[in-house]
Amino acid sequence: MKPYQPKPLHNKPPYVIAHRGVSAKVPENTLASFERAASVSGIDMIELDVRLSKDEEVIVLHDRTLQRTSTGNGPARNYSMEEIRRFDAGSWFHPVFSHQCIPTLCEVFQQVGDRLWVDVEIKSDWLHREPPGLLEEKVLDAVHRCGMDDRVMFSSFDHQLLATIKKMKPSSVTGISYNFSYDFSRLPSTLAERVGASVFVCAKRELTHRMVDDAHSHGIAVYVYTLNSVHDAQRMLTYGVDGILSNNADDILDVVKSHGA
Ligand code: G3P
Ligand code: CA
Repeated sequence: MKPYQPKPLHNKPPYVIAHRGVSAKVPENTLASFERAASVSGIDMIELDVRLSKDEEVIVLHDRTLQRTSTGNGPARNYSMEEIRRFDAGSWFHPVFSHQCIPTLCEVFQQVGDRLWVDVEIKSDWLHREPPGLLEEKVLDAVHRCGMDDRVMFSSFDHQLLATIKKMKPSSVTGISYNFSYDFSRLPSTLAERVGASVFVCAKRELTHRMVDDAHSHGIAVYVYTLNSVHDAQRMLTYGVDGILSNNADDILDVVKSHGA
């Protein structure tokens, strides 16, 4: 067995990753949520979700549709960026955030890219398949244009998207997200090696010691989501995970960093 040598992103793991920003306290995937993460010393990275608008701008939005997290309605892919900008993406959370809108990926990079790493989760829209390579190309272009080539990790449940990213830009850091339905019983190393990924991302209820051991014995880092309490974080730290995604990244910071000390 190879000794575990984590492929370092920057600081020493375990990393604290603000999932959709500090999304327990500020509306998810907004500039305000990412700014909150950047303002807390010790948070290593933000995670966000990307997809395309009608005019093929890379936007930061979790759902394929607009209505849960904005005043828009229906698939985001049906609206131009100019139209999307008019929707209020904060009031659903609290009226004080009514001025927040759905940002582009570049806007997020411009806001916090000099302070944080970014885990760009590329969302597949199973109901509207993008032309092969289009989403990957647009995402890579946004990362490059904004000078973020060395500060981004790409993740996805759609491992084919990550294979394409690697093909288009071999130096990319990629993380496969474990999909219980598709990936059941396959080990992290098997899944990661197929697409050249160096990170394995898994839900807390699905992660096992065997998976962590397998990943580490192949030099693959393990990130776990979504740990919103100190208790959950402490439990997963005993597994030896390398990164923790949390909606309350500021609250779990002390316990994670003291574990890594
Ligand atoms: O990458 C971990 C996590 O973000 C995946 O789930 O639904 O929160 O995007 P979701
Ligand atoms: Ca995500």
